[in-house]
Amino acid sequence: MRYEFESDGRLISFLDVAVPGPRHAGMVLLLHAFPLDARMWEPQLAAVPAGWRFVAPDLRGFGRSSPDPVAATGTRGLMVPSIDDYARDLLSLLDHLRVPAAVVCGLSMGGYVAFALHRLAPQRVSGLVLADTRPDADSPQARAGREQMQATLAQGGVHPVVEGMIPRLLGATTRASRPAVVDGVRRLAQAQSADAVGPAITRLMTRPDSTKELGGLACPVLLVTGEEDEITGPEIARGMQARLPHAGLVLVGQAGHLSSLERPAAFNEALDRFLEGRIESAGR
Ligand code: MLT
Repeated sequence: MRYEFESDGRLISFLDVAVPGPRHAGMVLLLHAFPLDARMWEPQLAAVPAGWRFVAPDLRGFGRSSPDPVAATGTRGLMVPSIDDYARDLLSLLDHLRVPAAVVCGLSMGGYVAFALHRLAPQRVSGLVLADTRPDADSPQARAGREQMQATLAQGGVHPVVEGMIPRLLGATTRASRPAVVDGVRRLAQAQSADAVGPAITRLMTRPDSTKELGGLACPVLLVTGEEDEITGPEIARGMQARLPHAGLVLVGQAGHLSSLERPAAFNEALDRFLEGRIESAGR
């Protein structure tokens, strides 16, 4: 079901699916990648385990949420876009839903937002699923790539930005043998506005380094990564696990950066097992 609520004069749209079960297990907040929206989580929303509620918001500007206020003033205006903007909207969403804490599952940019949410309000995070993401800030080389992306966006709009990203967003197996997934991701990304994508690029390139915070994560953590992920591959997930001795790590075979979309059954199995508390630390 799709709902919306007003935060700071803007509408935040979200998908919300609850499946009754013998006990009320809790809520999972699903945070989408760049440059997509909540619909990327449809395979997970279609398979919510009994007792759980999955909520997938469109981050500000994306999907059906109101335009990003930064877009109106431009990045030279008074508002400086920060990854924390998305996290603050999510805290308002949790307040609106009267949910004290949720398991936060973020993929790639969604993972950066999950780190921000935990930094701002650790008590609202009862578990973390960090999928195809990384804890560190952009390197100088990555920042230069983002600046190039901003220039492409200014010149040609969202279309060339998305076309430039597709080969890296999806794994080799998906690109070669899952045309429906490739088409679906392309359509989802091409549907986003330049006013969402532009400030998001700034937020990605200015996000803080969360590496030091890894050791201080008190909640259960699951790391999931596509084996063919060319952006945040298995070595990055293993690096995070080295700092998180109690975290489970699941590598999704034949999937790239968008592992939840490329191999939904494998991703859902990992998520379900984590939610059931069955993934044990490799070191325990
Ligand atoms: C994403 O999938 O959200 C992006 O690849 C994140 C990034 O470019 O750092």
